[in-house]
Amino acid sequence: MKKLAVIAGARPQFVKLAPLVEVLQDRSKLIVINTGQHYDYEMSDIFFKQLKIPEVNYHLGIGSAGHATQVGKMMIELEKVYHSENPDMVVIIGDTNSTLAGAVSAAKNNIPVAHVEAGLRSKDNSLPEQINRIVADRLSSVLCCPDKASMENLKGEGIAEGVFLTGDILYDLVKKITPDDDFCARLLKQHNLEKNNYIMMTMHRAENVDNPGFLRSIIDGLSTITNKIIMPLHPRTAKNLKKFNLYNDMLKIKDIKVIKPVGIIESLALVKSSLGVITDSGGIQREAAYFGRKAYILRDETEWVELERYGAVECIGSKITQQSLDWTPAEIPDEYFADSSKFIANCVLNFL
Ligand code: UD1
Repeated sequence: MKKLAVIAGARPQFVKLAPLVEVLQDRSKLIVINTGQHYDYEMSDIFFKQLKIPEVNYHLGIGSAGHATQVGKMMIELEKVYHSENPDMVVIIGDTNSTLAGAVSAAKNNIPVAHVEAGLRSKDNSLPEQINRIVADRLSSVLCCPDKASMENLKGEGIAEGVFLTGDILYDLVKKITPDDDFCARLLKQHNLEKNNYIMMTMHRAENVDNPGFLRSIIDGLSTITNKIIMPLHPRTAKNLKKFNLYNDMLKIKDIKVIKPVGIIESLALVKSSLGVITDSGGIQREAAYFGRKAYILRDETEWVELERYGAVECIGSKITQQSLDWTPAEIPDEYFADSSKFIANCVLNFL
């Protein structure tokens, strides 16, 4: 059996580990490496617990730091693991600094790389995620694209070999752990919310929440909303709201409930039972679309251009007003969905 090292480190990667580990663990010698980029219980351990992901083999404990320091420390520790384990392939997921560190350190050690969620692109090359994606894709031998638009992006960059249309692994997770009506009802009761009558809202992207002007505009916009709003708050956002003296203004918005970050099951339940979603998250916009909920994106663009074309997601920058939000959901064609993790496992293992 071939030996695979799968790398995760941040919240959006932990959730995708579950379907990936399930399909790879019987077909390979699997090593799971957690870089420790996210470390709070609500940002890390809760996902392993809820999704019953087996213990990781290596926890690198890197934590928060500036980009170069964080990526550099990860690369140093990853190289040690590669030397002792000699994996046949390294599997990276998404577009975080853990993705970048995994790709560069593997390539430097002549270990082939497979990238899950390859080919997504923003128009803005200064975004940290965009830098990570471009480098990761350039260094990958197996590129698992979630949609046709991602394949086109790679073609446009001259990357043609090893490119596969595998579908969105997040859809596999949604299918696997969709919370049932009882769970949703209990959760809504706990937060004093009514089914289909509140907005699920999240924001965390650095280019948004590091900017006090953006946060001010969001607070002003949310103050015009007449529905209840629930907002699980990312630590980066919490820290910045306090730093810019905006935290209390956020809490004062009528009918807003700001809560700690939630686990994946609670997050899916809050999306599934909502009227709709306002977010800057790549994952939550897809989850909303898969549950037939409209998602307004707090950005001027989305990497998920197909969902935008179907009308399932709409970019609004930082301009939120009650009048401009129309929660009529869009239909996504069935052909969009796939058994993604199985496809990914086949692409990875056929390469070796
Ligand atoms: C990272 C990813 C981003 C992804 C997001 C999902 C990069 C460059 N960015 O952003 O693409 O969408 O994760 O959440 O990799 N913090 C805590 N506790 C934690 C983790 C972080 O308090 O468990 C705080 C720290 O103050 C830290 C800040 O959040 O400095 C930012 O964390 P970091 O991992 O650098 O980036 P994210 O904003 O989480």
